[in-house]
Amino acid sequence: MVMGDKKNILVLHGPNINMLGKREPEIYGKMTLEAINSQIKKRAEEIGVYVDTLQTNHEGVMVDAIQQSVGKYQCIVINPAAFTHYSIAVRDAIAAVAVPAIEVHLSNIYRREEFRHHSVTAPVCYGQISGLGVQGYLLALEAAAQLINGGEAL
Ligand code: DQA
Repeated sequence: MVMGDKKNILVLHGPNINMLGKREPEIYGKMTLEAINSQIKKRAEEIGVYVDTLQTNHEGVMVDAIQQSVGKYQCIVINPAAFTHYSIAVRDAIAAVAVPAIEVHLSNIYRREEFRHHSVTAPVCYGQISGLGVQGYLLALEAAAQLINGGEAL
C-alpha cells in the first residue's frame, strides 16, 4: 500500500510513548513502540489503508503534525499521552483541522489517578478508546478505515 489513494491515516504518539517496554510495564505492558508500530502497519496492510506513524515528546511538533495532516491524511489516530490532560494547543489543533481524530490510550485513564480522568482533547475527537492496550490502536485503525470509506465508524 502506498500513500496517495485517499486512505491515508496518521498515527500520532505523544510524550514518553517512546519509552514503552521500559516504562511502568505494570501499566503499559512490555511491548515496545517499535513492536506496536509494526502491528499497526501489519493491520493497515490487511485492511488496505496507508499508515504513517510519528512519536514526539514535543507539544509544538504534535501541533505542527496535526496542522500538516490536512490534504495528506483522511484520519488521525492519536495518543496524546500526557498532553491529553492539559494541552489546549493540541485540542485546538485537532479542532482546527477537518481531519477526524480518534483518541487512543493504552491504559484505562478512568481507572487511574484523578488527574488522568479528564481529557481536554476527547471532546474534539470523533471517539476514544481507553484501556485496551495495543488492541486500541488496531481497533481505532479499523474505525478510521470505515470512516474514510464514507460511513460512520459505528
Ligand atoms: C496514556 C495515558 C496518559 O495519562 C499518560 O500520560 C500517558 C499514556 C496511555 O496511553 O495510557 O503517557 O495516554
